[in-house]
This record gives sequence, C-alpha cells and structure tokens, in this order.
Amino acid sequence: MRKDCAKIVIALLFSLTATLSLNAKESSSSAIAAGQPVIAAHGMVASQDRLATRIGVDVLRRGGNAVDAAVAVAFALAVTLPEAGNLGGGGFMLIHLAHPARNVAIDYRERAPADTPRNVFLDKDGNAVPHKSRDTGLAVGVPGTVAGLAYALQHYGSGKFTLAELAAPAIALARQGIIVDQDLAASLAHAAPRLARWPSTAKIFLHKNGTPLRQGELLLQKDLAASLEAIAADGPSGFYKGPIAKKIVAAVNAAGGHMTLADMESYKPLERKPIKGTYRGYEIVTMPPPSSGGVALIELLNILEGFPLAKLGASSPETIHLMAEAMKPVYADRARYMGDPDRVKMPIRGLTDKAYAARLRAAISPAKARPATAIMAGNPLPYESPQTTHFSIVDAVGDAVSNTYTLNFSFGVGLVAEGTGILLNNELDDFAAKPGAPNAYGLLGGAANAPAGGKRPLSSMTPAMVFQNGALRLVTGSPGGSRIITIVAQILLDCIDFHMNVAQAEAAIRIHDQWLPDELQVEPGLPAATLQKLTAMGHTIHQFAPWGSAQSIMRNGNHWEGASDPRQHDGLAAGY
Ligand code: GLY
Repeated sequence: MRKDCAKIVIALLFSLTATLSLNAKESSSSAIAAGQPVIAAHGMVASQDRLATRIGVDVLRRGGNAVDAAVAVAFALAVTLPEAGNLGGGGFMLIHLAHPARNVAIDYRERAPADTPRNVFLDKDGNAVPHKSRDTGLAVGVPGTVAGLAYALQHYGSGKFTLAELAAPAIALARQGIIVDQDLAASLAHAAPRLARWPSTAKIFLHKNGTPLRQGELLLQKDLAASLEAIAADGPSGFYKGPIAKKIVAAVNAAGGHMTLADMESYKPLERKPIKGTYRGYEIVTMPPPSSGGVALIELLNILEGFPLAKLGASSPETIHLMAEAMKPVYADRARYMGDPDRVKMPIRGLTDKAYAARLRAAISPAKARPATAIMAGNPLPYESPQTTHFSIVDAVGDAVSNTYTLNFSFGVGLVAEGTGILLNNELDDFAAKPGAPNAYGLLGGAANAPAGGKRPLSSMTPAMVFQNGALRLVTGSPGGSRIITIVAQILLDCIDFHMNVAQAEAAIRIHDQWLPDELQVEPGLPAATLQKLTAMGHTIHQFAPWGSAQSIMRNGNHWEGASDPRQHDGLAAGY
C-alpha cells in the first residue's frame, strides 16, 4: 500500500510540475489592486497560497469535483501555510452539490478532551488565566481536520480520487521542501518567540541560533510527510489510532494537557444542516453552530436589509455608521446565546428572524452611535494576531466548496507533536473561560460557551454561499478571528448593494464593531472627513493594520470570476 502511495506521489509530483509550468496559460492572479478578478470558464480555486491553489486546479482539470479539489487543497495548505492550514486543527466545510441541488455543512471543529472541567482555565481564586487556554496543552482540542476531509471525500467526492492520491502533492511538498514565501516569512518572524519554546517546533521552523527561516529559504517537513503518508495509507485511523495519535497525546500531556487515546479514537466529524437566510432577494447559505458565524451573518444582514445602503453609498459615513450599529447587537447576542448545539439550546430561529431584526433596527439612530454599555456590559482585552485560512472552489458541474479551517492562533499553540511534524491547535481558547472573561479576540461568552468535556468551542468561522433563484452566485469566506463575520458580511454588501466584482469587494476598506471593545475598528485609507463625521456621531475610532484574507468566486454570466485577498502577497485565484 505504501509502495503504491509512493508511486502516486511521484506521478502527482510530475503532474504538479506540469501544472506549474503551465502558469502562463492558466487564468490566475493575486494582484488585484486594480480590482480585476480572474476569469475562468469551468472551475476555479481561490486560496491563501498559490501552490495549494494550483494543486486544486490540477485536480479539477483532471475531472475531480470541488470536494476532491478541496481535500487536496486542505492537505497542501497544511504544508505550505503551516501558520493556519493544518492537520492538527479543525474547521467547517460548506458544500453545494449542483445535481440534484443540495447543501451540506460538515463540522470538523475540535472537541475538548473528555477530562475538561468547566473551571479548566481558572486559577484557584476563580480568575481566568489566559496563558492556560493559549499556551499550554490544556488549550489543545482533539483535532478534526483529518476526519473532516476523509468524511467529505467519502460522502461527497467524485469517486475518481483516493485520499492517498489527493494527499500525494502535499506529501511531495513536505518531503522535498517549499521555498519560504513573503507571507510565511512574516508569520514566522512574528511567531518565532512562541515557536522557540518547543524544541520539536524550533527544529523545523527556526535556525539553530533561534532565528526564523527567512523568505527564499527551504522549509523541509519530513516528519509531516511521513504523517501524511500514514494518513494516505490507512485513512483517518492512521491519524486517530496508532503511533501518530500516541505522539499527539504524549505531546499534549507533556505540555500540561489531559488528552487520552480514547479522545482521539472517538473523534467524529458531524454533518449539520446549513443556516439559511435571504438578503434583498438573494438566498444565503452558511455555517450553523458550533460556529456563530452563520447565525450572526444572517442576523446582521437582516438588520441591514431595512436600510437604503445602495443610496447611502459604499464607505460613506452614513453606511459605516449603520453597519457598526447593526454589528453591536449581533455580537451581544453571540456572547449571550451561542455555543455547541449538542450541549446547549439556542434561539437560532429567533436570532435569524426578520421581525427580530426589525426590532433591533428600530433601536438604531441614523445619526448617533450607542455606547456598548447601552447594549450590554463587559471589559475585554485587546486582540492577538488571528490566523485561520479559507478557500473557495467551484467545479465544471457547478458543485462548490467553501472551507474555513484553523489552528486558532498563528501556528496554534506553537507545539509540534515530536516526530509527527504536526502543529497542534489552541482552539479551546474559543471557550468562554468564565462569564465576562474575554478570549483572545476580545469576545465574551457565558454558560452556553463554557468549557466542558467533549464540547466544541464556539467559532466565528463563516464559510458562505449566495444563490439567486437557486443558482449559485458567490462562494466566499475569510480568516480574521472575531472579524470573520463582518468581513464576509461586507463582501456580500459590496457585491449585492454596491455592485462590485469580487476583486473590488475584497480590496474594499473594512470596518468592524463587535460591541466590545467599545470601538469602531477601521482599516487605513478612509478619508479624514468620513472619520470626522463618524466621530461626531459618537463612534470611538481605532485604526488597525488591514485584516482578513477573503477568498471569493462569483458567477458572472457564463464564467466564474475569482479573487484572492490583496492583503496577502502569496494567495492566488486560478481556474481553467
Ligand atoms: N479560532 C477562531 C474561530 O474559530 O473563530
């Protein structure tokens, strides 16, 4: 079996090399500053890494469907985008099948190990200790990615490719090495102090003197190649049972966690019913809990639907004000109600109801910002760097995948399980350690999102699709921590209200207000007059470095238009 796998690796490596040499002929672009999307007739992939995109396009060209391509892209990103692509994390995959039309949501979010008490992240006096939920083995959830990808392929793949065939390009890249690109070099430079704490991690990503690999240097991940080969040979049991599972459990526990082999063996991805809503006549399909993203997106769009945004204009102070005021109650509701649907009851129908949105809309003044305390009280901490990654795929028959997955922080907890090359997540920081204690994104929560054994922490990941009269129009999503929800909402508003193409929508300046911290966050570039007017309306404005990395594909007439977020240097939308 392993010998067969080696042959496939070599075959696909040739195929990949052939694909790379075809660059001049593929429709591709990551330089969309001019607002020009990439155009393709048949299929397209938009991801945060160009090698991964090309691997996905190659699968599509060879007759694979969007799910086959998604599995290959996700394995590839685990090698080429180690700060967010992963085997040791989890995420959500939204699938649209064109014939017969059907939408599916796969939840492969990490779970807390069974031995996770509610007070796991508190000290003896009951105070939250962020270090425990971000930097120790206690932060690590049982990974879901490998099970999720295998499940998606088994149930929704075309049947033309095996897991081994789709993992083969990733194995080749891990074994032969990749050249560190600009984005990876920047991520490594930022994360180096966290990575340096773990010798098993430092020996892969840092030089002997402790400095991170730089742009242009070779990143070899031979242990990761071997782990991928074990998964290729044995499927998910190559990861959840046997030597890899033992090494992950040992690494987590040596770092202060409480994970068992039973936690690994019992992990199951879950198929859930997507959340649906409408916005100005378009049908929105997105991710249900344990991501808050879908519910929050629909609630936000429902509130905004009652305002004449197109008339007010994109990025006008009036539009930004209404967007910010609509965002505040959505994040307050998120904090109060949302958690793992298998453990808590949530008023999802109520939160996504148009009449409820109308009541929230009625409380918004067109001229005056409300302080967060007028909505609910809290005292959050500042942000840490969010790292997650999203990719969007469409194929020639109209199937589509919108997939967001993550290790939580950049490189997760920073720990590679010795001998596996697999970086482990720190996803359990997405639990509310206790009511009023913010997570790393400043998000609050209560009992609904309290830690518990076997529970999935609440997420903000928002893979989304838009349909018109049942026909797929847009596939999108983004990383960005708590800002994911508002990034996706703004892509939709830009395309629907302001008639932008996906490249323009991705390039547009973003704003974010999550109720707490009580501030309107803006990217650089808004005119001074706009900022002055927003300040006069009562907003406290805080400018941040640009955020997110949206990856979007839109149907336009008889072709697809795609764009990879211009905020990153090494993403790529490409098709054929
Ligand atoms: N770890 C970020 C999220 O899932 O929202």
